[in-house]
Amino acid sequence: MAATHEEVIRRTKRAVVFLAVTVGLIGFFVGVLGDGAYLWMKALHVVAIISWMAGMLYLPRLFVYHCGVAVGSETSETFKVMERKLLRYIINPAMIVSWAAGLWIAWRMSFLSDGWFHAKLAGVIALSAVHGYLAKAVADFARDEGRRDHRFWRFMNEVPTLLMIAIVILVIVKPFV
Ligand code: HEM
Repeated sequence: MAATHEEVIRRTKRAVVFLAVTVGLIGFFVGVLGDGAYLWMKALHVVAIISWMAGMLYLPRLFVYHCGVAVGSETSETFKVMERKLLRYIINPAMIVSWAAGLWIAWRMSFLSDGWFHAKLAGVIALSAVHGYLAKAVADFARDEGRRDHRFWRFMNEVPTLLMIAIVILVIVKPFV
């Protein structure tokens, strides 16, 4: 059964409130810290990315084990809770903070027109699309629908890893301007 209209509205409201709180807090700290805000914001960005990536690497691994257990079993129900909580409390908030802090840094340091930044942005958009796909898979698993086999999820496990490697090289080496 697909998510109800009310459920979609409730989730959207929650995401909008979290985004507003994040942007508000960032605005507050930028005001308080003045010129020192850049390094604090970069620290926040890196902490958020570590959390985002940890979740993005762990979730497909949970799917590898989840698709190997019987539908309706106690283990399957436990996986559903783990997947939902990982997505809701770690992966989604970490993605929002990564985007908000990253875009602020790019604006503050005038990176918005740099070639390496555009390439990094393409990688991060691809990573966000994978995030969306994994979020859909959490909903599918929760309804015991659309289950793929462990080989597919082992492959999907490598996609965020490859994107992460490309993104980190682009932002640290900055191979082109
Ligand atoms: C979500 C959208 C993102 C935006 C808009 C963004 C933007 C930025 C910007 C502008 C910087 C500062 C670069 C500098 O000071 O030289 C930065 C730093 C960094 N970003 Fe991101 N980023 C994003 C996501 C990510 C992701 C997904 C990763 C890794 C998988 C990542 C890894 C890093 C790292 C490691 C640094 C620190 C680089 C340094 O030491 O200067 N970022 N990011």
